[in-house]
Amino acid sequence: MSKKFQAIRGMNDFAPEQTRLWRPVEQMLVDVLTRYGYREVRFPIMEKTELFKRSIGEVTDIVEKEMYTFPDRDGDLLTLRPEGTASCVRAGVENGWLYNQIRKLWYMGPMFRYERPQAGRYRQFHQLGVEVFGLANASIDAEVLLLGARFWQDLGLKGLTLNLNSLGTVEERQAYRSILVEYFSAHADALDEDSQRRLHSNPMRILDSKNPDMQALNDAAPQLSEHLQSESADHFAEVRERLDAAGIQYVLNPRLVRGLDYYTRTVFEWTTADLGAQDAVCSGGRYDGLVSELGGQATPAVGFAIGLERLVTLLEKQSAAALQDLPTGEADIYVAIMRMGDGVAVQKVVEQLRGQVSSRVVVDHAGGKFAKQLKRADASGAQYALIFGEEEVVQQRVTIKPLRSHADQVTIGLAELPDWLAQAGL
Ligand code: HAM
Repeated sequence: MSKKFQAIRGMNDFAPEQTRLWRPVEQMLVDVLTRYGYREVRFPIMEKTELFKRSIGEVTDIVEKEMYTFPDRDGDLLTLRPEGTASCVRAGVENGWLYNQIRKLWYMGPMFRYERPQAGRYRQFHQLGVEVFGLANASIDAEVLLLGARFWQDLGLKGLTLNLNSLGTVEERQAYRSILVEYFSAHADALDEDSQRRLHSNPMRILDSKNPDMQALNDAAPQLSEHLQSESADHFAEVRERLDAAGIQYVLNPRLVRGLDYYTRTVFEWTTADLGAQDAVCSGGRYDGLVSELGGQATPAVGFAIGLERLVTLLEKQSAAALQDLPTGEADIYVAIMRMGDGVAVQKVVEQLRGQVSSRVVVDHAGGKFAKQLKRADASGAQYALIFGEEEVVQQRVTIKPLRSHADQVTIGLAELPDWLAQAGL
């Protein structure tokens, strides 16, 4: 036997039984976005490595440890996109989408991070990303949060917690950074290895440590929210006020610093208790400095991304409303042909029918014994079998056999078939 191949670790295949959930979920998300006036953009799944270093930040887990980077045949260093924001901004600046304009955009597709795979954490995963450009006011921060709440509501998901924080401006963060370095330096021997490394390169990431031994020290650390200037504080207050007015609950989480460096002011994460350690289903925030950092005219921006694997798993766990009415199997109507020789005539009838009804019509191509064909009809999930026996074909008729009820089968003229099926809800 020849050698069998395996997929790359942390990269998943999706069977029809899985894509059956994915498609409608993606469609529901896109429908909500369209209702809010967001439009789709697409960009390549690879970029020059430098783009991600510049935007996500040199001293982040993603850039330090998780990027799929390789030289192409010209020796250019390329990276499979670990996220979409950097590419979206690059594309926007390059193509002039952002210049002096308000843009509300979304994208969907695979992202790549060389993380240790576990439930909810993959090396190829899928995001739905949303980015708004050209608006600095808190009203749009609130809108993207309302959008999230609308997604969960339309999908019938429960128990998502909105964690909220403000990281202030770059200047405010720099001032705060010195305060933090001073604080952690005074407790240098209590820092774990990761935190010691980050002390001078990225001290705010220390606050994000998952190490339980670091918790007490982090809890007592000075908080950025206490060091915001009035403009940032007012901006954050307005975001909260708008959420309050909309009845959206949130938890203020001063430790939420995010793993990417481009954020300013509002940052957030929607988390769930139903997914174990990988509990963030959707996260994002404002990034007012990134467009100019990547060579564009200074443009305020805010956005988020949903991890679709996590979202779909959560839907399955909660057996949410969105999954309730999804069709199973492959067919609504299954066509059985009794005599091989009638195949051509029946194919003509079936093609005509497919032009008349929108339900799923599947033909039995394997043929053989009637009982076998009916077994396959049953397995297809179809409501009805259309049986073309010798007599039916000659008389331009068809026998309809209900597969999910004990109702009697009927034989009708082909001309009546579309109406009959419409009456039956197909
Ligand atoms: P992020 O927090 O790195 O942000 O990723 C967003 C979401 O993608 C996470 O909340 C999670 O659901 C999902 N995710 C991340 N890594 C993995 C993984 N290895 N396996 C499965 N799911 C994962 C960003 O990517 C930003 N670009 C979001 C953003 C858009 N901020 C502003 N605009």
